[in-house]
Amino acid sequence: MTSHRLDVGLAARTYPIHIAPGLLADEALWAPWVEGRSVVLVTNETVMPLYGEALVAMLGPRARSIHTHVLPDGEAHKTLAHFEAILSTMLAAHCDRKTRVVALGGGVVGDMAGFAAACYQRGVDVLQVPTTLLSQVDSSVGGKTAVNHPLGKNMIGAFHQPSAVFIDLHTLATLPERELSAGLAEVIKYGCILDLGFFEWLEANMSRLMARDPDALAHAVRRSCELKAEVVAGDERETSGLRALLNFGHTFGHAIEAGLGFGTWLHGEAVGCGMVMAAELSQELGQLGLPEVQRIRALVRAAGLPITPPAWDASTFLDWMAHDKKADAGAIRYIVLRGLGSAELRPVPAEVVARAIGASQATA
Ligand code: NAD
Ligand code: GLY
Repeated sequence: MTSHRLDVGLAARTYPIHIAPGLLADEALWAPWVEGRSVVLVTNETVMPLYGEALVAMLGPRARSIHTHVLPDGEAHKTLAHFEAILSTMLAAHCDRKTRVVALGGGVVGDMAGFAAACYQRGVDVLQVPTTLLSQVDSSVGGKTAVNHPLGKNMIGAFHQPSAVFIDLHTLATLPERELSAGLAEVIKYGCILDLGFFEWLEANMSRLMARDPDALAHAVRRSCELKAEVVAGDERETSGLRALLNFGHTFGHAIEAGLGFGTWLHGEAVGCGMVMAAELSQELGQLGLPEVQRIRALVRAAGLPITPPAWDASTFLDWMAHDKKADAGAIRYIVLRGLGSAELRPVPAEVVARAIGASQATA
């Protein structure tokens, strides 16, 4: 297994994604990013003992100064209060405009540290160092940063691209099984919306991925990052509709997450089930055949993800989905497939959505 580099092409703000096993200990790679800078490592209480302490020991002698901010673990702490606490650490440490924030952890840490970097003195650099599969294939790339508000998930945030993304594939070894499956949901998403060949590769290799075969995981992370980088380069701020396609399964998924209470289902679990529902919706619209819906359902199930939504009536789903960020003048828009490997964003009449919800609930 070799190391790999690809770029997110954003003209003068183009940045690299480095993917390699053992990259966290690669001093030569890290040195130019921290030398002469004050560094703030933001992580959480789970990741700090696993990977943070060794990283601080390695970077300490290289950096001008190093400070750590250790968050409590969990989506429940992705709040304005904890965001403010990161900024307080940076202020107390006299961080300046050249400070580099290092976000070490899953998507919660990455989103919060990225948002703090976006806001501290109107913006300092952030290195994203994702340690979950979900964050390696999705949240660390593309510059979306945010915290939650009691009235909505990820509602307070900023676009702030990292200066680089460092992905150490070895960190996947310690990931709980449920979190591995949650990350696979986002991997499957890329195949569904953008790349039939990758979807087919996933069908053939899902058991290797579930067994954490290093080569299979490396391929899945690399291909996902390539696809995400292309989308971000083509529509950085989600204005043309291209980047919105990355929300395939998320409209239904967010409704499940919010309706059940955040944390009941993991984000990736809700997205997995949401993709099956979006596939049903695509079939209702005559854009996807039954065999393709069945293939998506089988792949999501093989990844250890739920495929049957809660038994709510359709109006409950529609109410939760009305808060979706893709809503346009109050009309909910959905990402639907036009065959496997191709997707579009479009409004859909509520009665068609209701039929798709019913069909998903009826199939176990
Ligand atoms: P997470 O950050 O909560 O991490 C999941 C769990 O794994 C946590 O308990 C964490 O401490 C633990 N963990 C992290 N790395 C580990 C490792 N190597 N070994 C053992 N345990 C480890 O969840 P996530 O799934 O990584 O991210 C979800 C978050 O990402 C959500 O808040 C979501 O909104 C956000 N997100 C953001 C984007 C984006 O574009 N910015 C995209 C998708 C999701
Ligand atoms: N995860 C969706 C996006 O980055 O746009």
